[in-house]
Amino acid sequence: MPATSRRAFGVKVLNSNHKDVRRLKREGHVAEIHGNKFWNSSFLIMNHLRKHPLRKRSRVLEIGCGWGLLGIFCARRFDSRVTGIDADENVLPYMALHADVNHVEIVGAKKTFQQLSIEYLSQFDAVLGADICFWDEMAGMLFNLTNRAAKAGVKQIMIADPCRPPFSELTQRCQNRYGDKAVVEPMWLSRPVRASGEILIVNP
Ligand SMILES: C[S@@+](CC[C@H](N)C(=O)[O-])C[C@H]1O[C@@H](n2cnc3c(N)ncnc32)[C@H](O)[C@@H]1O
Repeated sequence: MPATSRRAFGVKVLNSNHKDVRRLKREGHVAEIHGNKFWNSSFLIMNHLRKHPLRKRSRVLEIGCGWGLLGIFCARRFDSRVTGIDADENVLPYMALHADVNHVEIVGAKKTFQQLSIEYLSQFDAVLGADICFWDEMAGMLFNLTNRAAKAGVKQIMIADPCRPPFSELTQRCQNRYGDKAVVEPMWLSRPVRASGEILIVNP
């Protein structure tokens, strides 16, 4: 029998053949903007956070959360208060399912990057996102979001990607704007999967 789930960085990730994942799909929750599975760049941030932990119980916003495993990792490991937002409401039941199997509570909301106002962002200490900068227009959207988060008093913004061109544009624009407060950390993992990329870390 093929495995229906795996464990990595202390979180349980369900595979697409898991009965509850298949049930959600049957019920009509079909992701429309690539949120149909868990993507690998979250592992890069999890690996970074193992060595550079968040403060306990800090307020974390995962943007473009998809199945929400990065936020769930923070909730489990740091007791973070986590909200996950995504433009595609179809992904939210998969995040709720993963929160459930990982025994944490997460708030989910349908929101786009563009809708996150300074007032909304001021509720959070950290904004995290993985594999969310893949179309050209996303570089500008996420740069503007970073600026709003900085104005809102967010202490740390972290975005990971396997270095697609829009992400490289985003890192360049953030480094120009924030100087040494914007760091780009390259990372290679051989476990739990082979993954490589960069993490943009802005501490405004
Ligand atoms: C490639 S998936 C990555 C999902 C998740 N972060 C992961 O690592 O598994 C990209 C996610 O970003 C979401 N997304 C795309 N454009 C968005 C936008 N403008 N605002 C908010 N979410 C968006 C998609 O719906 C999708 O869930």
